Amino acid sequence: MANTKVNRILRVDSSACNSDSITRRLGDEVIRRLKLQYPGAELTQRDVGNGIQLLNENWVRANLTKPAERNQDQQQVLAYSDQLVRELDSADTIVITAPVYNFSVPASLKAWVDMICRAGLTFSYTEKGPQGLLKDRPVYLVLASGGVPFGSPVDFASDYLRHILGFIGILDVRAVYAEATNSNASSSEGAALDMLAQWLPLEASAVA
Ligand SMILES: Cc1cc2nc3c(=O)[nH]c(=O)nc-3n(C[C@H](O)[C@H](O)[C@H](O)COP(=O)(O)O)c2cc1C
Repeated sequence: MANTKVNRILRVDSSACNSDSITRRLGDEVIRRLKLQYPGAELTQRDVGNGIQLLNENWVRANLTKPAERNQDQQQVLAYSDQLVRELDSADTIVITAPVYNFSVPASLKAWVDMICRAGLTFSYTEKGPQGLLKDRPVYLVLASGGVPFGSPVDFASDYLRHILGFIGILDVRAVYAEATNSNASSSEGAALDMLAQWLPLEASAVA
């Protein structure tokens, strides 16, 4: 990514905790390093951990209606989701932070996924199967678990998020994982920072 200019960063946080959150702290560090590397980049923050709309029947019906045939109410119902899709699509680089909750992602992040997976906008079904409609771009996937090992059979968070991102066309996923934070939070966080250093080293020689 060193030669690719980053103009817009989207950050999505989903921990229910605002203070002393490992994923938010690691997210801060990802942003700090991105800003060092790309000082002019604009940051959009979407904190779903502090509230997000859920889809409902009106949303589903509006989404199934062809865009040209949507009435004003239906356009209004989809406006929030449209905004989330715009934020995502206009970002060159994305940072998603999430703790593992009950073996999967927080409900708030799942709600965000429901808002940004839109047939005809972010994916389409073709004769060859589903096709992502967004251009590929780097996503820093910052995850923390209390005990679940990432990549294990009981991790329903990391592969799920990778699958969803791939489903909409984004394959350049860069893992920053703090694993087993319940047993030793500081060493888990340290290991996550080591992973981050591979993607965004601080050494001046590695800075574009
Ligand atoms: C409601 C809740 C459910 C959790 N479920 C799991 C789980 O299923 N597996 C796991 O390994 N850790 C689980 N944890 C622990 C968190 O993933 C872990 O503490 C993480 O570091 C929290 O990140 P944060 O500090 O950014 O909120 C859970 C924590 C909470 C609050």
